[in-house]
Amino acid sequence: MSSLLKIDDMSVRFATPRGDLKAVNNVSIELLKGESLGVVGESGSGKTVLSRATMGLLPSTATRTGTITYQGQDITALPKDEVRELWGTGMAMIFQDPMTALNPVRRVGSQLTESLTVRLGMNKKDAKEKAIELLKRVRIPDPEAMLRKFPYQLSGGMRQRIMIAIAVSCEPELLFADEPTTALDVTVQAQVLDLITELRKESNMAMILVTHDLGVVAGHTDKIAVMYAGDVVEYAPTRELFSNMKMPYTEALLKSIPRLETPTGSRLPVIEGRLPDPTKNEPGCPFANRCPYVTDKCRAEKPPLTDGGNNHFYRCWFPLGGVK
Ligand SMILES: Nc1ncnc2c1ncn2[C@@H]1O[C@H](COP(=O)(O)OP(=O)(O)O)[C@@H](O)[C@H]1O
Ligand SMILES: [Mg+2]
Repeated sequence: MSSLLKIDDMSVRFATPRGDLKAVNNVSIELLKGESLGVVGESGSGKTVLSRATMGLLPSTATRTGTITYQGQDITALPKDEVRELWGTGMAMIFQDPMTALNPVRRVGSQLTESLTVRLGMNKKDAKEKAIELLKRVRIPDPEAMLRKFPYQLSGGMRQRIMIAIAVSCEPELLFADEPTTALDVTVQAQVLDLITELRKESNMAMILVTHDLGVVAGHTDKIAVMYAGDVVEYAPTRELFSNMKMPYTEALLKSIPRLETPTGSRLPVIEGRLPDPTKNEPGCPFANRCPYVTDKCRAEKPPLTDGGNNHFYRCWFPLGGVK
């Protein structure tokens, strides 16, 4: 398979009143055509900034370094409007809260056909037909009636389906989904994720799925990048990651997944402590203060990204299961 997206040594800093904030540090990631990558980590670990930096959607207070190659083309230096042209036709994005991307008081039909007439140059009649077909694809019953509805009349799950229909309407090669199901209840979450995966397989669409929930990515991605404090701390094919986990942080994330069988009222395990302050430059492993296996070496020196074989990389002096 050929390379679709390659991010090399990307860092993002924000100028803040408290000094430089390091949001993403030297991240390198590659996605092949049709492949799906999960980006996982606690809130504040840099997942959204990484996705937005890749799509050229950072605010002006941000500085990005490193290179981004899309379909063999270096898009790092492209002017903003050319990068914007890539979305819709090349890349598309689904957000956590569809209400920020949908206009609540404009009919679903006009929002859906707009992307088709503007981006694909379709006439109104063809766009309407295509819109109905898209609504069928995202399993919306009675698509004709849906075209006349307003987003504010719909449930969260239905809105997210509309967002997905808009995102896939121009058949992108790459879909960014940033916490697409976080606002939904568990059953609807599962349905929406299954739907995304089905659409992906039908058209061999690649995906970057961003979530704080390791359970969400497990069944829907080919490989996983675990982020902590702006670093990729573990990067491996999904099956390899779960069968041969190296990072104490990934293990802690796994333990913090709420399970359906958890008795109601019992406390969910959370990872004790907090992320380090991203405006400070502390020595050592950023997870040291929260790690159950911490040693003096961990507090003194930051571990490099280590190649553990089987395309499995990790950042730890004392990986789980020992060093091979
Ligand atoms: N516009 C911004 N200005 C300053 N800091 C920001 C901005 N956006 C994000 N950050 C900071 O960057 C870090 C990573 O944030 P983010 O990527 O949103 O985390 P995640 O998506 O993993 O929850 C956080 O420390 C956050 O506070
Ligand atoms: Mg985020």
